[in-house]
Order: sequence, then structure tokens, then C-alpha cells
Amino acid sequence: MTKYSLAVIVLAAGQGTRMRSALPKVLHPVAGQPMLGHVLAVAAALKPERSVVVLAPGMEAVAQAAARQMPGIRIAIQAEALGTGHAVQAALPALRGFKGDVLVLFGDTPMLTVDTLKALVAARRRKAASNGDGPAVVVSGFRPADAAAYGRLVLDERGDLQAIVEYKDCTPEQRAIGFCNGGLMLLDGARLPGLLKRLDNNNAKGEYYLTDLVHLARAQGWACKAVEISEIDVMGVNNRAELALAEARMQARLRQAALEAGVTMTAPETVYLRADTKFGRDVSIEPHVVFGPAVEIGDDVTIRAFSHIEGARVAAGATLGPYARLRPGAEIGPDAHIGNFVEIKQARVEAGAKVNHLSYIGDARIGAKANIGAGTITCNYDGYNKHHTDIGAGAFIGSNSALVAPVRIGDGALVAAGSTITDDVPADALVLARGRQETKPGRAVGIRARLAAQKKRKPKQNKS
Ligand code: UD1
Ligand code: CA
Repeated sequence: MTKYSLAVIVLAAGQGTRMRSALPKVLHPVAGQPMLGHVLAVAAALKPERSVVVLAPGMEAVAQAAARQMPGIRIAIQAEALGTGHAVQAALPALRGFKGDVLVLFGDTPMLTVDTLKALVAARRRKAASNGDGPAVVVSGFRPADAAAYGRLVLDERGDLQAIVEYKDCTPEQRAIGFCNGGLMLLDGARLPGLLKRLDNNNAKGEYYLTDLVHLARAQGWACKAVEISEIDVMGVNNRAELALAEARMQARLRQAALEAGVTMTAPETVYLRADTKFGRDVSIEPHVVFGPAVEIGDDVTIRAFSHIEGARVAAGATLGPYARLRPGAEIGPDAHIGNFVEIKQARVEAGAKVNHLSYIGDARIGAKANIGAGTITCNYDGYNKHHTDIGAGAFIGSNSALVAPVRIGDGALVAAGSTITDDVPADALVLARGRQETKPGRAVGIRARLAAQKKRKPKQNKS
């Protein structure tokens, strides 16, 4: 079998005005990733030889986001939004010299899955009996509960696709068809340019419809196929309500995948995941945990309720929370404990170390088995620069200590509670850096008597 060659065109030139946003529609995130990013990630799984994204003039931010995610992606500019067929025409120069299949996707369908794309590819490759080249056009079809304004798929008596009729151009009989165009299409690249040349805009919207390629192909005697896919896959996002709906569905999908991968969640519907969240085996997550981007959780980690985790790596056997906050650059070592109201940023907490209560640890290393007392703060910022705090293995930092960075606490050192540490502490030293306690026996009695007498003399003024 010869190598399958595929090019992908993602249409994203639409303005998305119904989002009412300064941000281009396809950059709005779902599960923390721009919608376009989801589409490109799914497309990338098919290893396309070429990828093109079609944008309107001035959409530089989208072009940059696309290039960041998929280096080498080509940008085609559609000068005016004259329809989906016109948008594909705009992408043709970027496909010059390419011979293979062309997959057309929309940038605003974040729920797309690789399996759906593979179903289209399979239909193209299954050579139609009537045509050795396989169908010229393969279309995704779905049966929505409400067919609304989708294009309708008209099948012939053999069940092959005869035409797509846009809603506005439908006869009443055609409107009654429940089988609709999901938008994504797979086209024979060899026959595509010829078909596109024949497009016109004699229709209700005055647009060049990509969907017209079907009847144009049939007029050449070429077969076309509709492949039924799930509605959720081609769900488009046009406004904020649909964005919220897509988020809910994506979360449901991610939670299901995590559960299937061996994560325990007592209340999965309260856990917010990202498309890139990675879990080991036997991870346990209590209710109300929020994951930001770039989180990797190792085996046997327990994440207790109300924790917030982003940009962090957590090694096997560690426990987090309740109410832990891991910020970017947090690296939690095996069997470490991060307790309640503890914030960790750009810091490595090594094996078995404990930061159990009310702490801020930023720009730091905490050595293995060190114990960080309640309320310890690494004072990492002087208003201009960030400085590093290094705490050695087995060190003990007493409660409510302030470690003024840059500072190093040696292995096994003992810092007395309430200390403000500004100088390095050698290994195994005891350091106290706080006012000495003075105790005056009986003195409280005298003070109370004096204050009570004052209050009796001027009761009104003393009222608090
Ligand atoms: C399209 C289909 C319709 C299908 C529906 C599924 C056509 C003519 N109609 O309709 O049959 O049921 O999708 O959701 O294709 N775009 C451009 N340039 C343009 C016009 C559109 O890049 O000039 C992009 C948009 O940004 C969007 C995509 O193409 O990502 C689809 O365009 P849209 O206007 O939403 O098509 P529909 O009217 O929904
Ligand atoms: Ca649409």
C-alpha cells in the first residue's frame, strides 16, 4: 500500500461577531486550550504532510498561535469572507504541488476527535465500486435533535450523497431531512481545484458554498459519500453560551478519560481538568480540584479537596491539600506533603519533605525530608528581583519563620520558630533570630488594676 498523503485546511476567517469579544473566536479557550488548538491537535494526529489555516486580514494573533502549536503551518489569507468554498480556494496556493487528500476542518469545533477524522479517511480509501479513485468528496453527516439551520444531506436511492442543500436554499421537503452536514469534509486533492473553479454564488446567501462541491462532483459522474458521526464532534461555538456548553462537554470527556485511565474521583463533576493534564495510576482526587495547564501527576498521588494546581509536576506518593496551591514551576518530589493553605511557586520540594500549613514557598529548593513549619515564608521578592532560597535535606524550619532570600539553610539545620533569617545558616546549626522573651512575674495584676481605675474615672471616653 502506498503512503497515504493528507493535507489539512482549517477555516477560521469568520469574524465570530456573536462572541462580542476583542479576542478572535478561535482563540477562546475550551479546557484551557484555544479552540483552534484543539482542532490542530486532532489534525496533527493524522500526520498531515501540509497544514493550512485560512484567516481574515489582520488576524495575526491567530496566525501566531497556529504557528506556535504547529510549526510549518501555512497561513492563507481570505481577503473577504465570501463563503466556505471561497475560503478553500484561498488555501489552494498553499497546496501547490501537493497530491493527496485534502481535509477541510472548521476552527471553531473544539470537540472534534481523531476517530471521526479517521472515519472520513476510511470512507475515502474504501474504493467505491463505481469509481476506482474512491469518492471525490466525503462529508460528515449527523442527526441533531434540532436540525436548525444546518445544510441538509440529500442521498440518492443507493444511499450515496447526491447534494448538500444549505438551509436557506432548501425546499420544505428538504428541510424535513434530519441528516445534516457536520461541516468537515475530505476531498480528493487531484479533483479539488477543478471542482472549485466551477463554484458560483447563485444562492440565497450569495456565497461560494463549499457544500456545492457535492453536486458539482456528481455532475462529473464522481461518487460522493456521507459518513455518519456524532453530533458532539462537530459542535460549533458561535457565542459565549455555546462556549460554556463546549466547556462542560469537554470537561465531561476529560473526566471520563481520567476515570478510565485509573484515576479515582469522588465527585468528578466538580473537578476541572485541562486537555494536557497527565495522571499516573491510582491517583485519588477529592472534590473541587482545579487543574491549570501543564500538570503531571505521578502514581499514587492524593489530591485533597479545593486544591488548585498549574504548571506543576508531582511525583509518586505525594499528597496535596486540602486547599493547596501549586503554581508554575512547582516540582513536588516523591512522598512529599503539601498541606492546607500552602502556595508553592517555582520551587522543588524533594522526597519526603513536608510543608503542611499556611506557607509561601517561591523560588526555592527544599531538601529531602526537610520539615517546613506552619507559616514559613520565603521572602523571594525585593520589589525588583526574585531571589532563591535553598533549604538543605533534613532541615527543620520553625513556625512563622521568614527566610529572606537569597539565603541558604544547610542540611540538618534547625531554625527556631519566629525567626527572620537574612544570613546563610551552616549545616546542623541551631539559629535563633528573634527578640528574646522577657517574663515579669505578677506584673499583669498591677496593669489590670491601673486600667480598671482609669475606666471608672472616664467611662464614656473609654468605651470602645
Ligand atoms: C456550514 C455549512 C453547513 C453545515 C454547517 C455545520 C457551508 C456553505 N455550510 O454552515 O452546510 O451544516 O457549516 O456547522 O459550508 N469561514 C471562512 N470564510 C468564509 C466563511 C466561513 O473561513 O468566507 C469559516 C468560518 O470561520 C467557520 C467555517 O468556515 O469556521 C464555517 O462557516 P460558517 O459561516 O459557520 O458556516 P455555516 O453557515 O455554519
Ligand atoms: Ca457555523
